[in-house]
Amino acid sequence: MSATVSSETVLPSNVPAALVRDFNIYGPPGIDDDFHRAWATLLEENDAHPLVWTPENGGHWLPTRTAIIEEILTDYSRFSSRSIIIPKAHSADHGLLPTTIDPPEHHFYRKTLNQSMAPASVNAMSDDIRSIVVSLIEGFADKGRCNFTKDFADILPIRIFLSMMALPEDDIPITKYWTDQLIRPDGSISFADALQNLKDYIAPFVDDRMGKQGTDLLSRMINTETNGRRLTRDEAIKLSIQVFIAGVDTVVNLLGFVFLFLARSESHRQQIARGDVAVADAVEEILRRFPLVTVAREVTADIEFHGVSLKAGDMIAAPTPLAGMDNSFNHDAATVSFDRQQRNSVTFGKGAHTCPGKNLARLELRIALEEWFKRIPDFHVEDESAIGFSSGIVGVVNELKLTW
Ligand code: HEM
Repeated sequence: MSATVSSETVLPSNVPAALVRDFNIYGPPGIDDDFHRAWATLLEENDAHPLVWTPENGGHWLPTRTAIIEEILTDYSRFSSRSIIIPKAHSADHGLLPTTIDPPEHHFYRKTLNQSMAPASVNAMSDDIRSIVVSLIEGFADKGRCNFTKDFADILPIRIFLSMMALPEDDIPITKYWTDQLIRPDGSISFADALQNLKDYIAPFVDDRMGKQGTDLLSRMINTETNGRRLTRDEAIKLSIQVFIAGVDTVVNLLGFVFLFLARSESHRQQIARGDVAVADAVEEILRRFPLVTVAREVTADIEFHGVSLKAGDMIAAPTPLAGMDNSFNHDAATVSFDRQQRNSVTFGKGAHTCPGKNLARLELRIALEEWFKRIPDFHVEDESAIGFSSGIVGVVNELKLTW
């Protein structure tokens, strides 16, 4: 990757010119061909520069290997979650819980979340998830083709989520629109308005269920007592919206990467279809290889970090997508091997903010693959030339059409 930054770019005083790269995290070089390979161009900097600085998106630091991403995500005293979106100005509008709070205050919200999303609670939803998956697949299995994105991936996680939260299914289109606008705005509504609309949407449900003994996820979350107190109304709204945003978009888009990979790889399809591999192992390997979330942190003080001077207030990205291709993190990282003996992954993050929805995400993916392969064991991409990708806080396969 070459330093193609114009000579007119004024660098902050702590940024050496040798570390400057023109890298747009919302459009990494080569993204049209392959999202993960585009991110992997940063790995080429590996030995020479553990960190680089890009003037794009307000200017920020970028790690060039996974070990540094892990350091950033675990060291909350030097790298704060108070700003987790690049450019930093967008973080000011965010303010959701528990994503933007550092430990120790963060512990209270996480305990509440962890209790309501523990493996036993999540596993209890298996039958509901399976029936939603089956009904979707059976809607198109006989047709020999589907728009995987629109007919399956876009609908499945949000339907599961609304069912778990006991929210009306009719609200899928509007809630999905607002969620999309927070993660990949198309300019049709401001970030602040999309967030406010989601808050206004969820508030009456929170009001109705607070203080009652409901068994749905929303009731459990907002009524769980942690450290002798419950969430306030405002906290309950901010927490449930964050779960909504984080829980829907990630699974939607991961499904795109999973099914694109399988549609292109006959040998991996056959391993699953013949039962040569446990589907849970296939899910772990696919999760390892196709991480898709890029959050960020704000540097809390002037520090030296891997030979570079960072200034208080600087933004630093934590791009998990490069981990899937990083040979210093996993042996032969780019190869998908379902029976890999040792597997390192940052797909669900690391440290205090590690994804509390990981049990649910794994369950949704496992059930989706199990039921899909029972009905559609062999499938292909309908038109390779139509495949494209987008990069945002969450990476995207733009639209995937499959035939069988
Ligand atoms: C494949 C699917 C998923 C992926 C790849 C994923 C990834 C991540 C990552 C990387 C983080 C850490 C963010 C940070 O450090 O700032 C995170 C946090 C979070 N995730 Fe997930 N996630 C997934 C599914 C889910 C689901 C299904 C839910 C809930 C239903 C969920 C809820 C959350 C929440 C609430 C947080 C914030 C946790 C905190 O700040 O303490 N995620 N996720």
